[in-house]
Amino acid sequence: MNDKLHIAIAGAGLIGRRHIEAIDGVEAVMVACIVDPSQDAQGYAKQIDIPWFPSLTEMFTRSEVHGVILATPNQVHVENALECIAHRCPVLVEKPIASNVADAEILVQAAQTAGVPLLTGHHRRHNGLIKKAKRLIEDGTLGSIVSVQGTCWFHKPDDYFDVDWRREPGAGPVFINLIHDIDLLRHLCGDIVSIQALESSAVRGYSVEDTAAVLLRFRNGALGTINISDTVVAPWSWELTASENPAYPETSESCYMIGGTRASLSLPHLTLWQHEGQRSWWSPISGTKIAVDPDDKVDPLIAQIQQFAAVIRGEQPPLVSGEDGLETLRIIEAVKQAALSGETVKLET
Ligand SMILES: NC(=O)c1ccc[n+]([C@@H]2O[C@H](COP(=O)([O-])OP(=O)(O)OC[C@H]3O[C@@H](n4cnc5c(N)ncnc54)[C@H](O)[C@@H]3O)[C@@H](O)[C@H]2O)c1
Repeated sequence: MNDKLHIAIAGAGLIGRRHIEAIDGVEAVMVACIVDPSQDAQGYAKQIDIPWFPSLTEMFTRSEVHGVILATPNQVHVENALECIAHRCPVLVEKPIASNVADAEILVQAAQTAGVPLLTGHHRRHNGLIKKAKRLIEDGTLGSIVSVQGTCWFHKPDDYFDVDWRREPGAGPVFINLIHDIDLLRHLCGDIVSIQALESSAVRGYSVEDTAAVLLRFRNGALGTINISDTVVAPWSWELTASENPAYPETSESCYMIGGTRASLSLPHLTLWQHEGQRSWWSPISGTKIAVDPDDKVDPLIAQIQQFAAVIRGEQPPLVSGEDGLETLRIIEAVKQAALSGETVKLET
């Protein structure tokens, strides 16, 4: 092996290929191989001249890698990650870390017991503007966080639902999209301890939800509301405002508002709102655009690979650990449970 860290990409579909492109942007790592049983992936591997294996078992038998990125379907995340852990190979698992909390707990426990790094692909935490927002919150610029508001509205085209599983429970915006927003709010505002939720499928009429409204209580006392829908025509979602993925058209709106006793912050605008002089609704209030730190102006997928490399080398703990992936999934399951039961779901983290 050369000095670069050799990373295997398991699952060369939509996001797997974006990881491959991201690795190209990081000096210290290289794509060692693609692991994916599909003919399409085999052809793609040939096209970009990368070794190909049909399974992780085959790859571990015939090759040596420093780490694996699992961009496989959710249903096989745990099985695949356990195989990496059995080979003592650090593994970054795309979100959700598992299809359900019980399986995620087994995986996290296995990684802890083996002492093998397990990371979750909640790449938004690696975004420079989230790093800046977290610093502003931690250094007290906002005062105490009182309330948080998140909007996640977009319109998935009708033909998105031509694939059967996308109309079934588990494939809706709560499990697919809200999981990212919840992970960010946990990262910025701390543990979530109770949840109430309503879901609706009134517009599309499928058995999966198209819309949900969620109430959150954070351990520090802050409250939160998130409203998500994949059937609203609107510019207010992380997807359409954060410019992370060129596949989405960009709008110049914000989608999160974080309210504190001293100031509030809109994201991804990263605009800090404060009264001039006395903290009073009678005093003028103005917004200051905050700059992302120059070192953090990196594509979050690239920053995530850089961090994975540092974890593999033993230089840093994971920014988004397996435990984080588990806790975020726990909240998502609680949202589903709260919506189904109409009850408040309390969590002990
Ligand atoms: N972080 C993000 O923003 C983000 C975005 C999209 C998808 N994802 C997640 O990434 C994962 C993959 O999603 P996708 O949209 O790229 O799916 P996809 O269907 O486009 O690709 C999945 C690939 O995995 C391959 N595969 C299936 N079983 C395999 C196995 N056992 N071993 C190796 N490869 C196998 C398939 O052949 C396919 O090429 C999902 O968990 C999804 O939730 C995350």
